[in-house]
Amino acid sequence: MMTPEERIKQLTEIIFYHNRKYYTDNNPEISDTEYDALYRELKELEERYPEYIQTGSPLKKVGAAGAVAGVRHAIPMLSLENSYNRIDAEKFVTKMMSESNGQVTFTVEPKMDGAAVSVTYGNGILALAATRGDGTYGEDITANVRTIRSLPESIDYKDVLIVRGEVFMPKAEFQRLNRERGEDGLPLFANPRNAASGSLKLLDPLITAERALDIRIYSVDSGAGNITHTDDMDLCKRLGLPVNDLNMLCDDLNSVYTALDTIENLRFTLPYDIDGAVIKANEYTVRAEAGSTVKFPRWAIAYKYPAQQITTILKGVSFQVGRTGAVTPVAELKPVLLSGSTVSRATLHNEEEITRLGVMIGDTVFIEKGGEVIPKVVKTVTEKRPADAIPIVFPEKCSECETPLIKPEGEVRRRCPNRRCHARVKASLLHFVSRNAMDIEGFGETLINALVEEGRLKTPGDIYTLTKEELETRERMGKKSSGNIIAAIKKSREQPFDRVLFASGLPQVGARMAKTLASHFGSMDNLMLADMETLTNIPDVGDKTAKFLLDAFKDKDFLNLLTDLRNAGLNFIAHTPEIPADSAVSGKSFLITGALSRPRKDVEDQIISLGGKVAGGVSKNLNYLIVGEKPGGKLDKAQKLGITVITESGFSDLIRKL
Ligand code: IVH
Repeated sequence: MMTPEERIKQLTEIIFYHNRKYYTDNNPEISDTEYDALYRELKELEERYPEYIQTGSPLKKVGAAGAVAGVRHAIPMLSLENSYNRIDAEKFVTKMMSESNGQVTFTVEPKMDGAAVSVTYGNGILALAATRGDGTYGEDITANVRTIRSLPESIDYKDVLIVRGEVFMPKAEFQRLNRERGEDGLPLFANPRNAASGSLKLLDPLITAERALDIRIYSVDSGAGNITHTDDMDLCKRLGLPVNDLNMLCDDLNSVYTALDTIENLRFTLPYDIDGAVIKANEYTVRAEAGSTVKFPRWAIAYKYPAQQITTILKGVSFQVGRTGAVTPVAELKPVLLSGSTVSRATLHNEEEITRLGVMIGDTVFIEKGGEVIPKVVKTVTEKRPADAIPIVFPEKCSECETPLIKPEGEVRRRCPNRRCHARVKASLLHFVSRNAMDIEGFGETLINALVEEGRLKTPGDIYTLTKEELETRERMGKKSSGNIIAAIKKSREQPFDRVLFASGLPQVGARMAKTLASHFGSMDNLMLADMETLTNIPDVGDKTAKFLLDAFKDKDFLNLLTDLRNAGLNFIAHTPEIPADSAVSGKSFLITGALSRPRKDVEDQIISLGGKVAGGVSKNLNYLIVGEKPGGKLDKAQKLGITVITESGFSDLIRKL
C-alpha cells in the first residue's frame, strides 16, 4: 500500500507522461476516460494532502512548468518599432513601396493592449501556449490559455500550426475584477493590460477561468504555406480562430491614413483597450526582402496614439465606504475636460497608491482615462507643488459612522467593520436596486440616502415593506412617482433567482457567477447546502469564491437578509413554474460546442428559462450536446460517451415539442 505522498508523486509523473504523449507526440496511450480518472484521483489527493503537492503538479501546470526553463519559441517573438506621428508612418509606407516597386499592400490593424502569446496547434489540438518572455524563451501558460472561451481547443487542421495573438481583458471585465478586488481589500490592477498578463501567469487555471479573457490572433508563424498575411488571417477565420474584424487591407498611403483615422475614431467605443494601430506589409516576399533587426521586423510599424492624459489640481480627498466596508480614497479635482467628458473626481485606489504617487492636496496631478469609467490619478507634478500643500491623512475612523477602521491582514484597504454603517447600507441598497440586479426603476440614490438616514431602510429586505402612502407624502414625491416606484418594487419580485443571488451582495459573486450558480444548484437551498467539494467541482468556481460563499452562509446578518428576501416573495428557485416538469428541456442538461447562428449566451439563457441546465463540461450525466459550426473537442468526447448530439435546428425541434 502506497502512502498518499508516494501516490501523489507517482500520479504526477504518470499524468505528465500522458500529457506529453497526447499533446507533444500526438500518440496517446490511454483513453480520455482513463486519463480523467487519474486526473481526478490526483485532484482529490491534492485537496486532502496539500502538503504533498509536487512542484511540477500537472494540475497547477502554469508557471510550475517554468521548472523546464520555459518554452523555446520556434521563431523568435519580436516586438514592434513605435512611431508617434504621421510622418513616420508615411516614411514607412513609402519605403516599403519603393523597395517592392509598388508591389505591396498593407494591413492596418488595431494594436490591442494586452499580452502577446504564441499558440501551437498540433494535429488540430491546442498543444502549447507560451508568453513572449524575452522573445526566445517564454513561459508555458497552456492551461490558462485553454480557459479563453473564444479560442477553440481543437481546429480542423492536420499539421502543426503556430499562431500569435494578443490576449486581453475587456474593459467591462477589468472594471468588474477591480471592483471585486477593491471590495475584498486586494491590490488593484493598474490597467487591463496588467490584469491580462497577471491572469495568464496565475498558478491556478480555475482562477484564470473566472476572469473572462479574450484573444485576437494577429499572425500565423508557420505551417500554412500562404503567401500573404491576409490569406493567413482568412485561414484563421475559417478555422474558427478569433481575428480582429477591424483589420483593414490598404493599397496606398491615403487608404492607410483613412484606416488609421477610422481606428483612432473608434478607440474609445471599443470594448477593449488599444494603444495604437499596427501597419504591416501584407506580402511575405516583401517581408522577407525587408528583413528584421534583432528586435523589430522592418516590415511593420506600430503607430501609437497619444495617451489620454491631462493635468489638473487636487483640491481635496474624500473617503468612500463601499458595501463591504472597504474604504476608497477619491480625489476631488478642479473640473477638466478629458476625452469627451468633464472630470471632477478620480480614484486614488488605496493608501499604497497615495504613497506611491507622493501626492498632496494642492498638487498638480496628471489624470488618465484607462479601462475604467472613473479616471485615475497617475502622476504628481512635484515641481509645481504650492507652499501650502497639505499631506493626505488617511482617517482612523469611518467618515460616516465613526467606527474605528480595521485593516485585515494581507489587505491593502482599510475597512469599516460596522455592518449597520449608513454608508455601507446605502451602497448595498444601491447595488440591490441597480439595473443588473433587481432593476427597481426610479429607486434612486437620493431616495435611498434619505430613507437610510431616517432609519426606514436598514437592509434591502426593507424595500419590500414600503407603502405607496408613506412615499407619496414625501417631499418632491407626487402620487404618480410613488405609484411608479411601488409598481417597480412589485415587479422586481418576478426577477429570476440568479438576479436575486447577485443582488444579495455575496462577495465574489458577479452577475455571471450568479447565473452559473443558479443554473447549477437551481435553488438557494441547494446552494446553501453545498460543501467545498461540490462548489469547486463547478467549472469557473475557484477555491476562493467557494470559501467566500461558505463563510457568507454562516454569517448571521446575511442569513437574516435571505430570510427577509424569502419572506418578501423573491425567487429562491431557478425554474420557471409554467414549464411542465416532463418537458423536453426541463431538468435536462445541455452543452454547446462550436458557433451557433445566435450568441451562445442567448441559447444558454433560453435553456435555463425553459427549466434546463447548462453543463460545465462533457460528462456521462450530460443529456444533450448542441453542435454548431466548427465544434471543439467536446464533440469527440461526447460521442465516445454516447451522449445525444443535436444541431441547432434539432434544439429548436425539442423546444417545439414542449
Ligand atoms: S504584430 C513581429 N499585430 O504589440 C511583430 N502586434 O508593441 C508581431 N500587438 O508584441 C506583432 N496588436 O503583443 C501585431 N494587430 C497586432 C497587434 C500586436 C497588439 C502587440 C503585440 C506586440 C506588441 C508590440
